[in-house]
Order: sequence, then structure tokens, then C-alpha cells
Amino acid sequence: MVKNPKGSDPEKSAPLTPLCALDDIEGSTGIVAEVAGVRRAFMVIRRDDAAFVYVNSCPHIGSPLDFRPGQFLNLERTHILCSTHGALFRIEDGYCISGPCAGDRLEAAEAIVEDGMVYLIG
Ligand code: FES
Repeated sequence: MVKNPKGSDPEKSAPLTPLCALDDIEGSTGIVAEVAGVRRAFMVIRRDDAAFVYVNSCPHIGSPLDFRPGQFLNLERTHILCSTHGALFRIEDGYCISGPCAGDRLEAAEAIVEDGMVYLIG
């Protein structure tokens, strides 16, 4: 999660793609968005006033991780869970701590939260 530098020149800033309102996320949600002309599936994980955004694709076979649409967290809501294999990923950096892709990472997407909205950068 990166912060949008206040006072930055919007002419020089990368384009922002709106994903969702932070208040609409109860733990996690899945969103398909078009970025630079390409449609991709993303997961958005909320932690208080921050959002962590990753491509919804497991690093080892590329399948989506949600067991029900938009449900990405384990029961304890401490980690991102692969519904197929039970792999666990840290929310903060997408690092896989257990499962068939242990040591790999989810593909992070650059994002910001501004005025209660989650945006992809670029
Ligand atoms: S698809 Fe990779 S851990 Fe499940």
C-alpha cells in the first residue's frame, strides 16, 4: 500500500483506476478492472484504513484464490488463503508462508486509498 503524495502534480501522476469504496470491503473483495487496456482480476484486502491489492492468481499455477467470490481470507482473517490448496499468504506483502508455493509471492498491484476510495495506480 502506498500513500499518494499530497501536493503532487496531477499532470505528472500516473492514471488512477477506481476499484471500490473502502467501506464496501468487509475483510476482502474481488474486482475485475481494466488497466492499460487489459482486464485483470484483483483481490482487495482491507486492514483498518489501508487496502492491499494483489492480482487474483496463485504464483504456482495461476488459478484464482477465492473459495467464494470475494472471499480471500482464512477464518481468523490473519492471512490470504488459497481455497484449493490451503496455502497461506501474508496480507502485508503477499509472501506465501505455507503451501505448494511457499516462498513465492502474490503479484502486488500499486494502489492508494484516497477520500475513502481504493484506486489502482497506472
Ligand atoms: S493454486 Fe497455488 S496454492 Fe493453491
